[in-house]
Amino acid sequence: MKRFLLILFLIFSIFVFSEIKIGVLLPLTGGISAFGDWTKKGIELAYSQKSTVLGEKITLVYADTRSEKTEAANAMARLIDKEKVVAVIGEIASSNSIAAAEIAEARKVPQVAVTSTNPLVTQGKKFVSRVCFIDPLQGTALAEFAGKTLKAKKVAIFVDIEQDYSVGLTNYFKERFEKKYKGQILEVRYKSGDQEFSAQLAQALAFNSDVIMFTGYYNEIALAAQQARAMGYKGYFIAGDGADAPELIKIGGQAVEGLYFTTHYVPEAAKTKIAKDFVDAFKKKFNTLPAMNAALGYDAYMLIVNAIERAKSKDPVKINEAIRSTKGFQGVSGNIDIDENGNAVKDVIIVQVKGGKFTYVTTIGPEDLK
Ligand code: PHE
Repeated sequence: MKRFLLILFLIFSIFVFSEIKIGVLLPLTGGISAFGDWTKKGIELAYSQKSTVLGEKITLVYADTRSEKTEAANAMARLIDKEKVVAVIGEIASSNSIAAAEIAEARKVPQVAVTSTNPLVTQGKKFVSRVCFIDPLQGTALAEFAGKTLKAKKVAIFVDIEQDYSVGLTNYFKERFEKKYKGQILEVRYKSGDQEFSAQLAQALAFNSDVIMFTGYYNEIALAAQQARAMGYKGYFIAGDGADAPELIKIGGQAVEGLYFTTHYVPEAAKTKIAKDFVDAFKKKFNTLPAMNAALGYDAYMLIVNAIERAKSKDPVKINEAIRSTKGFQGVSGNIDIDENGNAVKDVIIVQVKGGKFTYVTTIGPEDLK
């Protein structure tokens, strides 16, 4: 009888205590913590709506990369080796995702990057995917916008040489803008964390640029834009998705008014039912509109859970196969097809800062950029 009870207890505890762990690798502190914070909010909302899969409880294990590459790789190793997660969401910045991807790839555990847009994140890898478009598309969209819509002739580009994202996006922009629009480009360089941009701005002003483009992240964009206006620059500002955090406006204030940037999502453009429901649920939970990273974090989590369901397995290799064969997944940021390289095929959205808010301007699809 005793033995029987013991066995019963063991079976019961396996059932109650068995769990599926999903790792969440994010910049929760450091230079781009706002991106991490928003992504975490989106994931929390998704988790509150779906926290079991295959009849087991899902546990989220958060790991902070401190917005750095080395820590991103360390944290990925911890999640896999110590926490035994079956899949990992993250990171945000391409450089950090690339560093972490080496580890995920070697351990054969699927990684789903959220908004890391540099091609190298997934290139040549079997276990790394993402829920966003990539920078050749984003750079081309920006070049079309600058050349066609803004009729730009001279663009000064602020390049953050510490970020693969920034360097890549600059090059993809350049390729299209020089070839198709015969425009002139001046590149000026800085590093993540810099706060003073007067030397670079003096060069941009001397070059007579009609557009200043930023290919880095919100902190430096906000500061450089302020200093540019203070130095008398009157032209346009444009940027890539690295501008997309409400903190851009909080820090930049009036100076970023009018700035255009390319991105993945804006709540105002939510059309489908699930996209609208997401905005409502987010407002209810957090008392604010979702920022772009919240929507993509939500999608990354739901896509992984959906893949676990389709794989009918906790085996990371099988889950990865299901992730890589995702087609027509309905995300709150749009439909997601994962292509043969692990990249999502999606539209680029252009947003403008208007009246202190992110305002939808237009959508550019891959077919418009051929
Ligand atoms: N696309 C950027 C990168 O690859 C990251 C990013 C996306 C940051 C969106 C902010 C918002 O590094």
